Amino acid sequence: MNGDPKIEMRDVAKAFGTNEVLRGVNLTIHSGESVAIIGGSGTGKSVTLKCILGLLQPDRGEILVDGVDVTRMGGRELEKQRAKFGMLFQGGALFDSLPVWRNVTFGITQGRARDAARMRKVAAENLERVGLDSKILNLRPSELSGGMQKRVALARAIAPRPEIIFFDEPTTGLDPIRADVINDLIVSLVEDLGVTALTITHDMASARKIAHRVAMLYEGRIIWHGPRDRLYDSGNPYVDQFVQGRADGPIR
Ligand SMILES: Nc1ncnc2c1ncn2[C@@H]1O[C@H](COP(=O)(O)OP(=O)(O)OP(=O)(O)O)[C@@H](O)[C@H]1O
Ligand SMILES: [Mg+2]
Repeated sequence: MNGDPKIEMRDVAKAFGTNEVLRGVNLTIHSGESVAIIGGSGTGKSVTLKCILGLLQPDRGEILVDGVDVTRMGGRELEKQRAKFGMLFQGGALFDSLPVWRNVTFGITQGRARDAARMRKVAAENLERVGLDSKILNLRPSELSGGMQKRVALARAIAPRPEIIFFDEPTTGLDPIRADVINDLIVSLVEDLGVTALTITHDMASARKIAHRVAMLYEGRIIWHGPRDRLYDSGNPYVDQFVQGRADGPIR
């Protein structure tokens, strides 16, 4: 972590019709930092990521990436910003018509044909990083288990070696051992390669392992953030209820 802000969200609001999802999100992520966002289903965690990526346009506020506001950008400028990001989508979002190796290298080739032998090698290297065997290079995503698909999607997100990676539920649907392989991978991306990481998760063990800092989204705002070792000792009744998974408490 070198302390410079990599991503700064300032008073970001986003509504869909009358559904006010984000109501003034403020969050700063420093270069080389790993932050986890927690919060209930439907609170706008994925929408937050999509706003930073420029896939959704906020109604209000600023989102600075390396000091420049991406919310008012378009065209080539936005493309240049987007090249800094890798993204693991919640559902995986693999291309079923393409074999695994073409999926993994998609961010590098942008769908264009490139030196196939080299791309297969790049794919194999990235599959190895997520704990998958190169035997699956020629299979289609539909021929893999759900957990394997998730890891192929992860290999695709890291293959272009982006500066910033977003992980939307990286361990959901994985068995506990494989989930921990992914946790270790995220830690090594951050510690060894200096990647800035933003992870959405419902998995508190994962949040505590991978994140330097945890932020909780509730009713459209970040209501608490703090170092990971304060997650179970936040002094915040909303966070307490959430991390302990209690049905009764201030969260309806
Ligand atoms: N493109 C869209 N058009 C209309 N409404 C949307 C759109 N995207 C998201 N929403 C709404 O925004 C709210 C937040 O959705 P979001 O996907 O961010 O939730 P989430 O916090 O990621 O939940 P989960 O933990 O279940 O993934 C939901 O009410 C959803 O219906
Ligand atoms: Mg989501």
